[in-house]
Parts: sequence; C-alpha cells; structure tokens
Amino acid sequence: MSGIRPTGMVHLGNYYGAIRNYVRMQDEFECYFMIADLHSLTTHPDTRELKNNVKRVLAENIACGLDPDKATFYCQSHVRETGELYLYLNMLAYKGELEKTVTFKDKARQHPENVNAGLLTYPVLQTADIIMHRASLVPVGKDQEQHLEMARNFVVRFNHRYGEIFPEPHAFNYNQELVKVPGLDGSGKMSKSENGMSTLYFSDNDELIRKKVMKAKTDSGPTTPYSSKPDYIENIFMLMKLVSQADVIEKYEQDFNNCTIRYGDMKKQLAEDMINFMAPIRSKTSDILANEDYLVEMMKKGAAKANESAKKTMELVREALGLNYF
Ligand code: TRP
Repeated sequence: MSGIRPTGMVHLGNYYGAIRNYVRMQDEFECYFMIADLHSLTTHPDTRELKNNVKRVLAENIACGLDPDKATFYCQSHVRETGELYLYLNMLAYKGELEKTVTFKDKARQHPENVNAGLLTYPVLQTADIIMHRASLVPVGKDQEQHLEMARNFVVRFNHRYGEIFPEPHAFNYNQELVKVPGLDGSGKMSKSENGMSTLYFSDNDELIRKKVMKAKTDSGPTTPYSSKPDYIENIFMLMKLVSQADVIEKYEQDFNNCTIRYGDMKKQLAEDMINFMAPIRSKTSDILANEDYLVEMMKKGAAKANESAKKTMELVREALGLNYF
C-alpha cells in the first residue's frame, strides 16, 4: 500500500523513486495505491485545483505503467471508513509524539499561519490508509520512514489493547539504495519543491526538456586523464544512466577519461534520450486525460475494490473495539 500526494506534477524523480517500484510490485503482490487527496487538505486548503490535480496525477501514474487492472488504484476520499479509523487511532496517538514529528515541525515552520490539527495528526491519517487494507509493505522514500515508525507504534498499541488485527507495516524497496535522481542544478535530488528548471516534469514539452538539460551546469572539462568527477558532472552521468544506451554512456566515460569530452554534445545526447523516454508518457497522459469516461470508470473501479477491503477491516475493528451493541 502506498499513497501519492496530488499536490504537484509527476517528475522524473517520482518515477525512479516510487512509480517504477509500484509497477513492479503490482505483478508480485496484492497492491493498493492511493491518491492522498485528504492529506493534501492539511497544506492546501484551497480546493479549486484539486479535481484537476487528482485527475492529472491518476493519468500520469497510469501512463507510467501503473495498471488499474492489476493494482487497486483509488482516491483516498472515496474510502469513507478512513475517517472513522483515523478517529479511533487518534485516541492512541499522543500529542507529544506527534509534535516531535520532523515533517510536522517543517511544515509548521514553513506555514506558521496554518498549523492545523490535521497537520499534527497527518501520520495518524497515513496509518489509517495503510492498515485499512492490513498492508505490511509500504513502498516509500526515506522522508516517510518516521511516519512508518509511528504507524508501527499505533498498530502495536491497537493490537495490544484491542486484539491482534493488524500486521506491522514496514517501508519496502527492491534495492537497498533507492535510485537517486539528481536535479539539473547540480545540487540535491530532483524534487518538486526545487526551482522548476532543475526538475524534469512529464508534462514538459520537448523544447523545455532540451532547455532544462542544456542549462545544467558543466565546466571546460578535465585536464588530467582519469580525474574524479565533480558532483555536477557526476549528476549528468547519473541522469544519462537512467535513459541512455550502454554504449553511449561508455563513450562519454571514455571521453571524460581521455579529457576529450564535449559537455555540449553530451547534454544534447542526454536531452534527446530523455525526450525519447518522457515524450511517450506525456502523450499517453494527454490521451487518458482527454478520455473523461475512462478516468471516471477507473476511479469508480478503484473505489469499489478499496471499499470492499475497507468494509472487511472495519467490521473487525468495530468488533474489537466493542462497538457492536447488537
Ligand atoms: N505521506 C505520504 C507522502 O507525503 C503520502 C501518503 C499518504 C502515504 N498516505 C499514505 C504513503 C500511506 C504511504 C502510505 O508522500
């Protein structure tokens, strides 16, 4: 089970950091993938853009290979029981531990005018999402590890007090190290909070992809053979490894080692290979977005499957809590 926040457009970092894992998992496990529209209310109270964002994120994930026939792909708000389970879990979550959460402190610092209770209990809602399907594997990035640890604590408390109903959820990744997708500005990873020019979005057109890649920082090249690469050059090689053929990468490795590398050419090649990878996903996304009937049908199907699972869990939960008066 995993959740995707609908608060930004999907970019290359999301693909290699998350979506690619979902696509692989959907063949091996019973999967629930969810658009976290309720979570987005904690930081984005203005909902005028919500519908469009949710539909775009749905379409982009499907275009990237997430298959609604294999996995259950649904919207958080379509599982009404989530609110109920969240309420029960809130009684097992302590104010002190919630206040210590790193993401809460960050968001409170960024938006001191809107430190709402939903923000404080964000990890409680996330726990409700996960255990609603009694999931044990949660494919998430490093930034979510603390939330998962809290989820385990809430689960242990619930099980201890009311009976063993839930497995303990753990972060899941195929490889030990998550693939890091560097940004194009030479520092840090590609993320939606960075400036737009360092991030490659699937909605970017070919020209914009070229422009962003060509702007990536380089220098006049190494002067001694087999020198080590500065970070910003290493980053360009890392991006190339994601989308280019092995012989192309090999050629630029050699050119670097011989001090004959021409970064302009390398970036042109990278831009074209990037376009080859990203453009088909962009066009598939617009096909899906143009087909409102398909999108609605897909959402309804996801909701029905998620509801079925939620209903079963909640029967067990109400029974365990003793809320079964007749
Ligand atoms: N908090 C997650 C994020 O910021 C999104 C999310 C919501 C989630 N519910 C979840 C992730 C359940 C995993 C499981 O990306």
